Amino acid sequence: MKHLLTLSSLTKEEILGLIALARKIKKAPARYAQKMKGKSLLMLFEKPSLRTRVSFEVGMTQLGGHAIFYDVSTSPLGKGKETIEDTARTASRYVDLIMARVYDQETLEAMAKYATVPVINALSNFSHPCQVLSDLLTIIEKKRSLKLKVAYVGDGNNNVTHSLLFAGALVGFDVSVGCPEGSEPLPMVQDFAQKAGRKSKAMIVITPDPREAVRDADIIYTDTWMSYHVAPEEKPKRIKTFTPYQINDRLMGHAKRDALFMHCLPATRGEEVTASVLDGKQSIVFDQAENRLHMQKAIMLTLAK
Ligand code: CP
Ligand code: NVA
Repeated sequence: MKHLLTLSSLTKEEILGLIALARKIKKAPARYAQKMKGKSLLMLFEKPSLRTRVSFEVGMTQLGGHAIFYDVSTSPLGKGKETIEDTARTASRYVDLIMARVYDQETLEAMAKYATVPVINALSNFSHPCQVLSDLLTIIEKKRSLKLKVAYVGDGNNNVTHSLLFAGALVGFDVSVGCPEGSEPLPMVQDFAQKAGRKSKAMIVITPDPREAVRDADIIYTDTWMSYHVAPEEKPKRIKTFTPYQINDRLMGHAKRDALFMHCLPATRGEEVTASVLDGKQSIVFDQAENRLHMQKAIMLTLAK
């Protein structure tokens, strides 16, 4: 692994290797306290963040290294005074790793092309690989296996949905996406997932029927209807479109009895999920958030080698 830009460029073995390393780190964090001594991580942000920013920074500190927060809007790059190429080349002379949260996946591709150090996708409009890697760790902890069905209901043309589809198809677990017509995962993601899913024996289903999506599911997953890149004026229209896809107690009743609820957070109670589900017994969202920390460490250690 040279960079982590999207899960679709990883192998099943690489994904499982990251999960295994994250489990080891979580069990004995002190053993890793000096592993990044003297190393630095640059963290570029075009969008807001709580979990990703804090877990990467704390993760780097706990590994004995140092992380630098960099708000792109205040940078020469953000002011239009420097190119992405020159930014990547320059930053590579100072730091050992670059992570970036951006709008366009192409920005990450360009960064990776010109950087001489590994680049990590900390979320783009297209995908959120670090999130889903840590979610797989959470699922294994809770369900002891990845031979199961994950149902994602809500906005299908979404970074988390895309990464879940890549992961399911590569690792070999079933993913069904329940989403309104017109908000399906991008065709290239669907094609990849169907093809890789045939090989790994994962069932990949995209359906406009939320009940069909959650039937017999072990994990029910949703995400905001208003991703960071969505314009605020779209909200009324999107609420109308997505309301039939809200995760509530009624919909949870169509999944397996011991199904668990996941959400990458931030969540809006009363929109994509009701408070009763998000704060209910089946919800594991804060364990999910915690695991971001352990997985970020595994990602950084693997790439900085
Ligand atoms: N889940 C996630 O990436 O959260 P943040 O936007 O707070 O980083
Ligand atoms: N789909 C969401 C994920 C937030 C972590 C967004 O892009 O805002």
